[in-house]
Amino acid sequence: MQFQLSEEHEMMRKMVRDFALNEVAPTAAERDEKEVFDRTIFEKMAELGLTGIPFPEEDGGVGADFLSYVITVEELSRVCAATGVTLSAHISLAGWPIYKFGSPDQKERFLRPLAEGSKLGAFGLTEPGSGSDSAGMKTTGVRDGEDYILNGNKIFITNGGEAEIYVVFAVTDPHLKHKGITAFIVEKDTPGFSIGKKEKKLGIRSSPTTEIVFEDCRIPASQRLGEEGQGFKIAMMTLDGGRNGIAAQAVGIAQGALDAALGYAKERKQFGKPIATNQAIQFKLADMATQIEAARLLTYQAAWLESEGLPYGKASAMAKLFAGDVAMQVTTEAVQIFGGYGYTREYPVERMMRDAKITQIYEGTNEIQRVVISNYLLKE
Ligand code: CAA
Repeated sequence: MQFQLSEEHEMMRKMVRDFALNEVAPTAAERDEKEVFDRTIFEKMAELGLTGIPFPEEDGGVGADFLSYVITVEELSRVCAATGVTLSAHISLAGWPIYKFGSPDQKERFLRPLAEGSKLGAFGLTEPGSGSDSAGMKTTGVRDGEDYILNGNKIFITNGGEAEIYVVFAVTDPHLKHKGITAFIVEKDTPGFSIGKKEKKLGIRSSPTTEIVFEDCRIPASQRLGEEGQGFKIAMMTLDGGRNGIAAQAVGIAQGALDAALGYAKERKQFGKPIATNQAIQFKLADMATQIEAARLLTYQAAWLESEGLPYGKASAMAKLFAGDVAMQVTTEAVQIFGGYGYTREYPVERMMRDAKITQIYEGTNEIQRVVISNYLLKE
């Protein structure tokens, strides 16, 4: 067993850390405040090759592994969780299913621009009436000659409105329940496809979250991803990897909060000495660091398993469950260490605490992660 990152992974971390500090961190608070998405950050990530980290070079990617990918999401999220999820949804939820299930033509048309970062990706699974119960979706895809006609709406779409390529799911045979769900690749400018309501959120406010609407939206059968009826499996397998991206986001948020709390505890003086000299603060910092390290190890292990071609669904669900809870606990403690100042927007920890909450909810709530983990345990 090797518990040290390779030189390549350390170089990757340093490169992304420099980028995050110089290009992402300076505007993170302002973008959060104004709820604006900055496409130029995504474009700069594309220039660095970050938009195609785990995809093969022949598909426009850089051919690195999933550990490099989670290190990248972690370092971005350490300064701005919204930027972290922009990349995570783009790579894990849009690029990955096309990489895994796409035909050579689909990879050329859709994966290449995603990997190269000339286009942004998104994923449409959740609907107003089906969140945890994804198989209960109502959006329909009716075959009409060489096309499918999609009708329905999807909600909580990360990168919604900004993305040019959407991997979406629709019921093509309602009698077959989850076996009647099919995946499609939809382009933003397709007639009948539109962007609906934009959500106003507690956290990750500079990452757009919207509804997407299909009204007699005609999609050529050449944009069906995988076989008819394979959609639910594609969605579940996509989320297996996506969840580890969220675990990495959670680790990054928690590390960012610890960085801030450590700095503050050393500077802030009360009763004539830095508050870091109090054991009450020291113990909080020790617990925070220990929890983060455990979450990071679970996350890196799941990424390593995926890179090695070994089963990673259970490990990924465990990583997301644990890291999401750690992010919430650590950011709450960071606000506590900052005291009254921590509750204000003068300091970044309140934003981190707001951002942390979503990691316990999206890509399967932490309650659903327990369902996934226990399903594996009972089957093993
Ligand atoms: N890989 C491959 N196949 C899988 C699978 C996986 N990880 N998980 C399930 N399946 C297969 C099962 O083997 C089964 O196949 P058969 O019918 O051939 O036996 C089939 O799928 C149905 O499985 P279940 O009976 O377990 O399905 P279920 O309907 O009970 O649902 C669930 C299981 C785990 C609760 C699932 O619905 C789930 O993960 N729900 C949460 C959805 C979710 O994470 N949504 C987030 C959306 S994305 C997002 O958050 C927005 C964003 O942009 C960030």
